[in-house]
Amino acid sequence: MATDSIDLQEIYQFAIQLAKDAGRLILEGSSKRTQSAATTQDPDTKKNRVDLVTETDQAVEAFIKRSIADKYPSFKFIGEESFAGGERVDLTDEPTFIVDPIDGTTNFVHAIDFVCCSIGFTFKQEPVIGVIYNPFLDKLYSALQGHGAYLNQTTRLPLTHPNPPPLPSLGDAVIGVEWGSDRSKAVIEKKGRTYMKLAADGKDVEGGVMAHSLRSIGSAALNYSMVAAGQLDLYWEIGCWSWDVCAGTIIAHEAGGKVYGKGGKPWHPQDLMGHHFFVVRAIADTPGGETGEQAQDRIAKEFFQVAEEWD
Ligand code: IPD
Ligand code: CA
Ligand code: CA
Ligand code: CA
Repeated sequence: MATDSIDLQEIYQFAIQLAKDAGRLILEGSSKRTQSAATTQDPDTKKNRVDLVTETDQAVEAFIKRSIADKYPSFKFIGEESFAGGERVDLTDEPTFIVDPIDGTTNFVHAIDFVCCSIGFTFKQEPVIGVIYNPFLDKLYSALQGHGAYLNQTTRLPLTHPNPPPLPSLGDAVIGVEWGSDRSKAVIEKKGRTYMKLAADGKDVEGGVMAHSLRSIGSAALNYSMVAAGQLDLYWEIGCWSWDVCAGTIIAHEAGGKVYGKGGKPWHPQDLMGHHFFVVRAIADTPGGETGEQAQDRIAKEFFQVAEEWD
């Protein structure tokens, strides 16, 4: 197909409208849930008891997939619920939508407002469009490569644009972390030790950095959005998938954030298909001569001296 002739502006506007339409379905699903809870919306379990999925996850993905196939029949599609249904698609140079119909399903089930639809789009393997829409809070985060990132299409991100604050050290950060759905002893021990070092004072715990705080908001895509906005200073997770982070990657990047590969290594497009994710918000250049990017790398280095990783 003529991949060079795709119209990214048109696809961007399409993705924004699609996310808003998906948001309406999510809201409808949530009201149905409160009206007739158990029978229609009882979450089935996928991998284990905490890996939840509802009828709404599946219905929203089916709607998005159908809408994309109608408008762009030759484009590839990667989506969480299609993957769970056995559909495996590799990341190639072809135009590809990478979609999580509901990111934050546990929040959705528990009626917590941090829920979104995440629509990413890659071309030549790079995320170039991202749209993340939280219909409960009516917040839409979006970005098109080279055109900046926005909240509700008008407010440039980060919210402090063009003057992101400095970040002197990891101890000054609010850090996004998650518990994820892998609750094996090995993983929870590593996470637990890492969180303890991030939270505790170095006088009490060896290596403790006593960061301002840790936040676990329950949606990878919204963690990226909050890093893009400059509300979270950084976000770390192992165990996410491409649909959790594709849209967030371009939104954070366009907001001046720096996205890293495994263990803080330089980002490579194929990292999107892995499970190690780390992103630091935009940081100002300092009068002392450190650039914002050098500051981001310094924070990343501090972080990976503390974090325990696994494959
Ligand atoms: C999950 C959320 C959660 C993260 C998990 C994801 P889901 O996605 O983003 O915050 O910790 O790794 O799987 O299941 O709600 O789409
Ligand atoms: Ca899920
Ligand atoms: Ca997800
Ligand atoms: Ca999901």
